[in-house]
Amino acid sequence: MKKIVTIALSCLLIIPARADEGMWIPMLLEKYTIEQMRQAGFKLSAEDIYDINKASLKDAVVGLGREGQPFHHFCTGGIISDDGLVVTNHHCSHALIQAHSSLEHNYLRDGFWARDKREELANPGITASILVRMEDVTEQLAAAIPDDERDEPLRDAIARLTRETEKNNPGTRASIKPYFNGTQYFLSIFKIYKDVRLVGAPPSAIGSFGGDTDNWAWPRHTGDFSLLRVYAGEDNEPAAYSGKNRPYKPATSFKIATGGVNEGDFTVVFGYPGTTREYLPSFAIDQLVELENPRKIKIRADKLAIVDRAMESDELLRIKYSAKAAGIANSWKKWQGEIKGLKRFNSAAEKRELENRFTDWAREKPAYAGLVERYRDLYAASNDYTLALVYATEAGTRGAEIMAFISQLQAKFSRLPDQPALAAYRAALQAEADAFFKDYDVDTDRQILAEMLRLYNTAGLGDRWIPGVVTFTGDHERLAADLFEKSTFTDPAKLSRAISTLDARRVARIEREPLSLMLAGINNFLETTIIPPLREIQLELLELDKSWMRGLMEMQPERLFYPDANSTFRVAFGKVAGYEAMDAVYYNPVTTLAGIMQKDNPLVHDYNVPPRLRALHAESGNIPVCFIATNHTTGGNSGSPVLNASGHLVGLNFDRAWEGVMSDYSYHPEICRNISVDIRYVLFIIDKYAGARHLIDEMTLVR
Ligand code: ARG
Ligand code: GLU
Repeated sequence: MKKIVTIALSCLLIIPARADEGMWIPMLLEKYTIEQMRQAGFKLSAEDIYDINKASLKDAVVGLGREGQPFHHFCTGGIISDDGLVVTNHHCSHALIQAHSSLEHNYLRDGFWARDKREELANPGITASILVRMEDVTEQLAAAIPDDERDEPLRDAIARLTRETEKNNPGTRASIKPYFNGTQYFLSIFKIYKDVRLVGAPPSAIGSFGGDTDNWAWPRHTGDFSLLRVYAGEDNEPAAYSGKNRPYKPATSFKIATGGVNEGDFTVVFGYPGTTREYLPSFAIDQLVELENPRKIKIRADKLAIVDRAMESDELLRIKYSAKAAGIANSWKKWQGEIKGLKRFNSAAEKRELENRFTDWAREKPAYAGLVERYRDLYAASNDYTLALVYATEAGTRGAEIMAFISQLQAKFSRLPDQPALAAYRAALQAEADAFFKDYDVDTDRQILAEMLRLYNTAGLGDRWIPGVVTFTGDHERLAADLFEKSTFTDPAKLSRAISTLDARRVARIEREPLSLMLAGINNFLETTIIPPLREIQLELLELDKSWMRGLMEMQPERLFYPDANSTFRVAFGKVAGYEAMDAVYYNPVTTLAGIMQKDNPLVHDYNVPPRLRALHAESGNIPVCFIATNHTTGGNSGSPVLNASGHLVGLNFDRAWEGVMSDYSYHPEICRNISVDIRYVLFIIDKYAGARHLIDEMTLVR
């Protein structure tokens, strides 16, 4: 039976709009998608999800962002009470939990539960956006969307329209983004709440159970959730943090289903997926698989080896490097999965076949003449630049951590103010330094710098592609030690002294320190040799991408296209389903507490089950923990509410399964699965493990 399904699906591959693939635009559900969703089992209407005249489910979805870049949502969350209680992933709050942690209050290790609202912890800089409405503004911008010119008129038109929108909708923020390779533009209007507090988080041994070992993999047993609360001013509108703020009263909140899911059940995911590139040409896939990913993987592997050793050696270092290590490891592992999946499913060949068909079809159409060949030439021309860029950034400006810190501070040094403002300026610099050193270990970072220098010089890039300041064939340990020794930035005491007496002469002297000079040299190399030519290539690629998308839509009029992810609100529907992972292996779609006990191993950090959870298992019996489904998701969808056919919350999205992580470039329904934590496990941990019944009481549970 399963065999037959596989064969049927591979025939279907020729028909491009495939079941379960796609991240759909909420305001267009009625027009394009709702019929398919209903056929798949959904019981609600398009207006139940997105309605601009009355409360709809979209009002219970928050995009989590940072002040300064609030439209770049790093995660999603769902409102689950009339008091603005938000559930998202543990890994989404990881940095917040860490920021509140110390050796005395180790909330990462022990978990954190506010007993009442007064104990909830503020997180300056974190924002929660709620979508008010969307608008198709393609027509309004049409005059400014040129076909073969550069982007300036368009950028101006977008800025103007954004300003106008915000003026006409006081208290909101507007964001206009390109869709379908820049052939269409949509406006999103948000309310952006700025007072988001930490309410609860399980210990990491539950919230990131399985750690980086299980990351990107199924079967999974991670209780990847945490609780936040959105606060608003007295008028329920966004307000800066204040003790006087009140819990936000949402237009609606998610009801929680206690009935769970079974294989085959309909699921829908709401959220803010970050980036996908489903419409790239084969040449881009080749570049990614052969060139870019392998090098980035190698650089990060070497960094990780050093960080892991440090974390194993010392509990304080484990806290300091916890979020950083998770971040480095996360992409490192995903890139490996991407390569595997893209190769296994012959994605480049699949795309090549489409390109050949396109070329045949376009033969008599001057608008598309030579498009595929031009793609090929541009990617060929970008190979060396791309590789040089990978090293200059991953191993250079973002190699050792100190490099980014130097950039950050030196950018401010160049804006040294006059006397009256000087004290405040120095205090601000000192605060940045304190924040940096809180989670910094100089020995670890020195080892990283040495390793980065070694890698850079042994990568076989060719002289043209390495900045002179980095070229060195001697002992890289000694070099790194010397650079660190002579730098003001690597020593908190020295840096504090410098900040408290900072003047133009001092700034100039610091800029001449060897480590600062090395960083400046890499930046200069980027700015003069790499970025400008690469930018030219990329601008032309953007134009080609537009033609390619227009052409595809013309060639395949029956195909329902969905736009690539761009950090805007999307709806992805699918069903709970297992999959054939590899030869002889079929994975069931649901994991349970029994599986946690099977993985239990006190000697392995990632599998060290808390004794209390062991005891609870003995008392409570088996309960569901995670499930997989066919919803099309990507980074940014973390914390996304997963709903059943009645629109009730059944889980939180937090990951994808290993064999299908190439779905950002090439989605295959037979193998691509999103991973969610079952909401019943979330309730179980809050109630039975943490004893935080008062939080459950805020929620609305339905059968
Ligand atoms: N892979 C998931 C995501 O992309 C989870 C990452 C956090 N977990 C971890 N073990 N690093 O965000
Ligand atoms: N963990 C991811 C996130 O942070 C979601 C997994 C994915 O990339 O699909 O958004």
